[in-house]
Order: sequence, then C-alpha cells, then structure tokens
Amino acid sequence: MITSLRLRNFKNFADETLKLGPFTVIVGANASGKSNIRDAFRFLHGIGRGYTLAEIIGGKVGVGGQLEWEPIRGAPNEIVRMFDGSNEEIGEFYVRLSVRTGGKNMDYSCTVGINPDGKDGFRLLTEMMMAENQPIFGMVNSEQEWRYMQEVRPALARPLDHDPISEDQRSCLCSSIQSMRFLELSPARMREPSVPGATILGDYGQNLPTVLEAICADADRKQTLLSWFEELTPMDVQGFEFPRDPSGRVHLYITERNGRKVSAYSASDGTLRFLGLLAALLNDDAGGIYFFEKIDNGIHPSRLWLLLDLIERQTAKGKIQVITTTHSPALLAWMNDDTFEHTSVVYRDQYWSDSVIRHIADLYRLRELRKSYGLERLLTNGWLEDAMKASEGDADTDHLDDDDEDGWGMEEE
Ligand SMILES: Nc1ncnc2c1ncn2[C@@H]1O[C@H](COP(=O)(O)OP(=O)(O)O)[C@@H](O)[C@H]1O
Ligand SMILES: [Mg+2]
Repeated sequence: MITSLRLRNFKNFADETLKLGPFTVIVGANASGKSNIRDAFRFLHGIGRGYTLAEIIGGKVGVGGQLEWEPIRGAPNEIVRMFDGSNEEIGEFYVRLSVRTGGKNMDYSCTVGINPDGKDGFRLLTEMMMAENQPIFGMVNSEQEWRYMQEVRPALARPLDHDPISEDQRSCLCSSIQSMRFLELSPARMREPSVPGATILGDYGQNLPTVLEAICADADRKQTLLSWFEELTPMDVQGFEFPRDPSGRVHLYITERNGRKVSAYSASDGTLRFLGLLAALLNDDAGGIYFFEKIDNGIHPSRLWLLLDLIERQTAKGKIQVITTTHSPALLAWMNDDTFEHTSVVYRDQYWSDSVIRHIADLYRLRELRKSYGLERLLTNGWLEDAMKASEGDADTDHLDDDDEDGWGMEEE
C-alpha cells in the first residue's frame, strides 16, 4: 500500500505531502491541483514501467506505432513548478513515495532536473531507495555526467550490476508502483466488443465484456457482481450474455428477469460506468492501486452511497487501494470514519499559484463540525475553503518535520 507521496516543486506544489490510506479521497476546487497529484503518480508509474524520463514525460510509442504510454499532461517543462510564471529559477522537482508492503516500510525518491539551456531534456539528479528508513541505494549525479545521464533509466525498475537492492526489497517497491492503474471510464469504449482473452480492463474501460465474462466464470464472484449491479441500477438483472460475432469478438448483453435483453450499445452511460467500476473493484485477486478521477462522474447521488460502500468494503480487505478525486457532496456525506481520516483537501489561494494539501481532519474543529453539520454542508457552503485559507498561515509547518530548520516542528502537537 502507498502510505504517502511527497512533492517538491512538482507542478503547483512547493513542498506538500499527501497521506494515503486504503481508500483516499481528494477534494478541492477546480484548478487546485487534484489532477496534478494524479500526474505525479503517473510519473512514478512510468518509472516502474522502466521508461526513460523523456518517455515518461513526453510519451512512448510501442511496436506497431501505437501510443504505448501517454505523455504527462501539460507542456513538458511545466512539470517543474513555475515561480511567478517562470521555472527558470527552480529547474528541478522531487518526488518521494512511501509504501508499506508485507510489514515493511520502503521509500523511493528522485530528483529530476530540466537542462537549464532547455535543449537536452530531463536528467535524473538523485535517486534513493530506503528500507525501514535505512538507505539501500543512493545516487547523486554531477554536472559533468549530463550526457551520460540522459540515456539512463531510473534504477528502480532495472537490476543493477552488483545490485545493492535485494530482490525482495525491489519487488516490494516496484510492485506497488507497477500495480497502479489510472482509470478514466469511457462509456463509448466500454460499448466496444472485446477480443477473446483480453481479461484486463483497459484504462478507458476497454475489454469490459471479457473481463465480466471472466468474473462470471466463478459462481461466487458472479453472484457478488449481480447483487451489486442490481442494487446500483433500477434494473431487475438476471445475468449477462457474451455472444461471439463472426470475427470471434465478444459482445456484452444484460438480461433482465422480464425477458428483456439490452446490449452494451444501448445500455445507459451510468449503467456502463457501474459495470466498469465493478469489473475493476471485484477483480481484487489481482490486487492493485486504482486512481479514479471523479469517481462520482455520471452516477446518480442516490446510488453513490452504495458505490462508496463497495469501495470501502473492497479496500478494507487490504488487497486493493483506491485513490479518487471528487466534487461530490454526497460522497462526503456518506463516507465512513476511516475514509474521512484519509480525505485530503487541495487548496489554492486565488492570488497565488501554489497549492497546499491538508488532511481534512486536521482542519480547525472539523471532526466536531462534521458531526453537527455534515461534511457535505461544509463543502457546499464554502466553509472548507475558508478553513484552509485561515489555516494556511500556521498550518504550513508540516514540511518542517523533516528538515526542521527553524525548530518550528517542536511547536507542533
Ligand atoms: N508547473 C506549474 N507551476 C505552477 N502551477 C502549475 C504548473 N503546472 C500546472 N499548474 C497549475 O495547476 C492547475 C491545474 O491543476 P489541476 O490538477 O489540473 O486542477 P484540478 O484540481 O482541477 O484537477 C492550473 O491552474 C495550473 O495553473
Ligand atoms: Mg482535474
């Protein structure tokens, strides 16, 4: 499980840390930086896939000319935080990921620099891995190595000569980073038939028919799928059918008890989204870390609590981890105490481009106010934003825990 992500000079974060739990919810106004957090996770995932920095940031074409990896959102040089509209003074960013797997705490961090003359792209300035807070691998590049460094892929996903990292330690870090999935379910893609054998749900929900067919092959999982699906939609569903067309591709039909049969082509967008989410979340044998942008997207508020319940149950089992952004008051209203403790607010002041990330529970009197008013009201009437604004002056000491340059960390409770 990923336990925290620290970002320094990454996009609009000067130095912020997101703490994560089995189910992490991120709220914040438009353009506050929620998707920038997703971009940071994608950056790390790209490292886990063994790509070079240029490929991770700029995209990678695979065999056959298909785009294998989409570039990180935004202009390449804008991955580094801009200071007053320019990134000349900064020129590098740092990310640090902490994971806990099999009872062990591991950390991975790296610093990436942009070549100041803007020609040769990106380079890895530092890379560090730690097990239980003890360094097991560290690398700091010097200026002279610039040319050489460009060819180098981060060491995380590639065995080294005289490898100081044990296989166990490497897989501990890598499996978390590699198992991240970034799902942006698209009803149009979920309506497409799938090729037999494609049993992994694509990032846009592709392969839905074959993924559901695989779930239905197991009687227990099929029952779970059907009962959730029935709860989430007003349909009296009996089951699914997966007919083949002449080319062998697999189509999806939903059958109702009244004999009606609806193909995925005419199923509603919301129905397909539910099915996509169920296909991802019920496939918990495979484990994995899922990042959903706006999980509530296209889902009726009256059904949202069921979805929330499903995620809370599935993540509590400990095999999958879910991170989502949301604007939905209903989601905040119904979340359980555990989810509340892993909810963070991303806030950006209108006069300043940097954003801060705060644990919602750390805001002034928030636990109390949640009980009296409900989190949803605090969101909709702007209270959360105001509390973030008010807390900014004295709340900005989190990052001093590590460096504690001024000794302010001492004053914290
Ligand atoms: N390199 C950068 N330096 C400073 N701000 C940035 C940088 N890159 C993006 N941003 C800011 O991040 C904002 C977008 O954040 P985003 O994560 O897309 O917001 P949302 O919370 O809506 O998902 C933009 O308004 C932009 O100003
Ligand atoms: Mg966004």
